[in-house]
Amino acid sequence: MHAAKSGRMRGDMGFKDLKFDKDSTFLVTGGAGFIGSNLCEAILDMGYRVRCLDDLSTGKQEHVDMFQGRPGYTFLKGDIKDLDTCRRACEGVDYVLNQAAWGSVPRSIEMPLFYEQNNIMGTLNMMEAARECGVKKFVYASSSSVYGDHPALPKKEGIEGDVLSPYALTKRTNEEYGRLYKVLYGLDTYGLRYFNVFGRRQNPDGMYAAVIPKFLKQLLHDEIPTINGDGRQSRDFTYIDNVIEANLKACLASGDAAGEAYNIGSGGREFLIDIYYDLCRALGKEIEPNFGPPRKGDVRDSNADISKARKLLGYDPDYDFATGIGLAIDWYRENLK
Ligand SMILES: NC(=O)c1ccc[n+]([C@@H]2O[C@H](COP(=O)([O-])OP(=O)(O)OC[C@H]3O[C@@H](n4cnc5c(N)ncnc54)[C@H](O)[C@@H]3O)[C@@H](O)[C@H]2O)c1
Repeated sequence: MHAAKSGRMRGDMGFKDLKFDKDSTFLVTGGAGFIGSNLCEAILDMGYRVRCLDDLSTGKQEHVDMFQGRPGYTFLKGDIKDLDTCRRACEGVDYVLNQAAWGSVPRSIEMPLFYEQNNIMGTLNMMEAARECGVKKFVYASSSSVYGDHPALPKKEGIEGDVLSPYALTKRTNEEYGRLYKVLYGLDTYGLRYFNVFGRRQNPDGMYAAVIPKFLKQLLHDEIPTINGDGRQSRDFTYIDNVIEANLKACLASGDAAGEAYNIGSGGREFLIDIYYDLCRALGKEIEPNFGPPRKGDVRDSNADISKARKLLGYDPDYDFATGIGLAIDWYRENLK
């Protein structure tokens, strides 16, 4: 694979060694989605209880069915836009991992009002319910999109530009509420600014699909993918297991580190066009892509400075891009219909 770094993976995934009280209960909102279902699985594998709250709006029933019957797993079908649902979901919970939101920059430009309701009010409801129920930690998904049009690389917390989409604004607003809930109410909140996450179970379908699973599926089916723009845009693509580690370590972080947002990337930077040809080579395909217009609202380059998360959360990602993409390719080869 093309990557500046060589593949690196430790013998054992870092998060598996983390220890919580044995009766700990986690609430994963958006637990039927890509990141949420991976969080549910990791927590169940570690032997703790997981409650999944999801309205199945973009998540999949099969990501619920796969855990039904496993000890410690419960599913609550519900909408975080409804405060009472959030309250019920938070009862008796130690840690909230709030992943529920609608992603996609272009879709948010088409439907800003829905994003306001779903991503801002939804997460605010969750923070309020978590506060009322006295949860220990509230960890929530933010996004690298909060950096907006600021050109500095690598991206560093505190150096943000103007946001370029309603989606990015929802995440920035979540972070402001996260800060306020710590300052005003003492709720330990941790915002995780994910940088283009990829890996098993990410949805490859639909016009709003993320680029790696979408290209993988299209190439595996001998279809011609379209690259928006010239392909020279770059991203810090982050393997899913690094994101699991970040969430679990945030749950164990000190209260002094709360009320803040943290870059969660792998610290690398890959150009889309290089990834495209890497995928072609890995799959043995010779398919030239189509090129489309650049997408409105997209950030041109993205690369995370992860020193703040390293220092205050103990985040120490195990997977670089080359290792992660190899694992993702294997998974999609085996699992794509
Ligand atoms: N995947 C990435 O690269 C990436 C990057 C930055 C941030 N994020 C954030 O991470 C989180 C998870 O993203 P994902 O990629 O797993 O997306 P996903 O669409 O696979 O998962 C989101 C889940 O949330 C659920 N959901 C949405 N609105 C809900 C509501 N009102 N009530 C209950 N459930 C609701 C959906 O049904 C879905 O299961 C999101 O907050 C997203 O904005 C993701």
